[in-house]
Amino acid sequence: MVTTRTPLMAGNWKMNFNHLQAIAFVQKLAWTLKDAKHEYEQVEVAVFPPFTDLRSVQTIVQADKLDIEYGAQDLSEHDSGAYTGDISGEFIAQLGARYVLVGHSERRTIHGESDEVCKAKVDAAIRHGLVPVLCVGESLEERESSDNPADVSIAQLKAALADVKPGTDIVIAYEPVWAIGTGKVATAEQAQEVCAAIRGALGELLGEESAAQTRILYGGSVKPANVASIMREPDIDGALVGGASLSIDDFASIIRYHSHVGT
Ligand code: PGA
Repeated sequence: MVTTRTPLMAGNWKMNFNHLQAIAFVQKLAWTLKDAKHEYEQVEVAVFPPFTDLRSVQTIVQADKLDIEYGAQDLSEHDSGAYTGDISGEFIAQLGARYVLVGHSERRTIHGESDEVCKAKVDAAIRHGLVPVLCVGESLEERESSDNPADVSIAQLKAALADVKPGTDIVIAYEPVWAIGTGKVATAEQAQEVCAAIRGALGELLGEESAAQTRILYGGSVKPANVASIMREPDIDGALVGGASLSIDDFASIIRYHSHVGT
């Protein structure tokens, strides 16, 4: 099957940058990529700012007609009502966001989000026309205690996508918890092994066509120095970048991995 999956480089800012810093960052990133003659159809670029920055990012993207996409880091599984502190997918979609992260390991561990909650959030995202970027991945203990390093990711995937229909636009991010923010990057082979298994599971859940079209990102200590080897793997279609996405030079270099393939 011929596939045309456009690689996606996604910057997860986590709880960094206020709205003024967000504007400055997006503007500088756009200039840097323009100087490098970046073609967005070849590698899509998205940033995931804190909620309070989204309106500002929307304004700069629209005013300067930037090709940078943006998304939220989380959403409520509910649409509206008495949920103090929560943010509806409807509000996020109203801000022109294309994406929303669901089930990042920091949400699963720090905020105790279960697979059921992640499923409800995936459904809410789709209901509001957002593309969920579903994060899955195993902890170090889980990796060491299992024969198959993909088991945890596949269980999380199956739970969260239970009601997703074939052909729905979704993105999966494989992020081994032990590689997030630790500097310990999975080897390209380790990442490929799990991403291939995830694609296999997507085939069972949504059919081969959806599996072939769905982008699977790797996340966990992605840096300019390791992105090219990761991107050479056939089932890896981009990266979800935390720390390195806060530096213009590093994030631009990750986006421009084509220019240093082989390093
Ligand atoms: P990291 O974070 O690149 O800083 O490891 C990745 C993530 O948490 O999405």
